[in-house]
Amino acid sequence: MSLEKNIKIDTRHLNLYFFEEKILKDINLEITSNQILGIIGPAGSGKTTFLRSLNRMNELEPGSRIEGQILLDGIDIYNSELDVISLRKRVGIVFALPVALPMSIYENVVYGVRLSGIKDKARLDEIVEKSLSAAFLWDELKDRLNLSGLRLSGGQQQRLCLARVLAMEPDVILLDEPCSGLDPISTSWIEDALIELKKNYTIVLVTNNTMQAARVADKTAFFLMGELLEVGLTKQIFTAPVKQETNDYITGRFG
Ligand SMILES: Nc1ncnc2c1ncn2[C@@H]1O[C@H](COP(=O)(O)OP(=O)(O)OP(=O)(O)O)[C@@H](O)[C@H]1O
Ligand SMILES: [Mg+2]
Repeated sequence: MSLEKNIKIDTRHLNLYFFEEKILKDINLEITSNQILGIIGPAGSGKTTFLRSLNRMNELEPGSRIEGQILLDGIDIYNSELDVISLRKRVGIVFALPVALPMSIYENVVYGVRLSGIKDKARLDEIVEKSLSAAFLWDELKDRLNLSGLRLSGGQQQRLCLARVLAMEPDVILLDEPCSGLDPISTSWIEDALIELKKNYTIVLVTNNTMQAARVADKTAFFLMGELLEVGLTKQIFTAPVKQETNDYITGRFG
């Protein structure tokens, strides 16, 4: 199935354990290219754990172990020949709390790019403009690229973190509650950026705000207690969910 051109990531019978505890239970999920997949579900349902398994960040946690497969462009990312560093470049992640690094806006954007060995000033300038533009920040910040990233507002810092990921030219962008703690205007900047970015990227958006999934996601997946209970077109999930639990969650009956 992942041979289909538009399937970017395909998880097959994915189980994830922390020590003896099974956290993700038999997750079979196809993630389509050039779409936004929203992931919703109550606290502790495994959303973050699932997201972090897609670029092998869980293995940084003690006791983690997986079974099953995660195919990226048809290739198993847990394949021993795969280079984890380059995987994490291809599958970038933006976290809930924006963390600008204590350096200029410019250096914040090119941080990973410099580490990967690019030093040419003209090339770096180009990357900064392109990445900040794609994160809807260029017009706001182009005249103060030397300002410390720490001086930016929370909403700007979150877009700066997105720009830092974009600078690495990933294929897939993972976002874990990128708008928690942001005001509605900053939230809509991020949402508008994601809708624009999906033309060129595959996006997986974990959100505690079900309305955010309804607004921006093409497909929505509902996680409950480590299981993928239901996935479908966002419209279907929000208007005609198949499972009672999905309906209860999106109508706010539990969560
Ligand atoms: N490093 C870890 N070691 C052990 N257990 C963990 C670890 N990380 C997460 N868990 C457990 O895995 C389960 C799923 O957690 P996860 O963070 O994926 O949930 P979530 O859906 O993202 O929740 P939230 O909405 O609160 O962010 C929880 O029971 C959590 O305690
Ligand atoms: Mg989480």
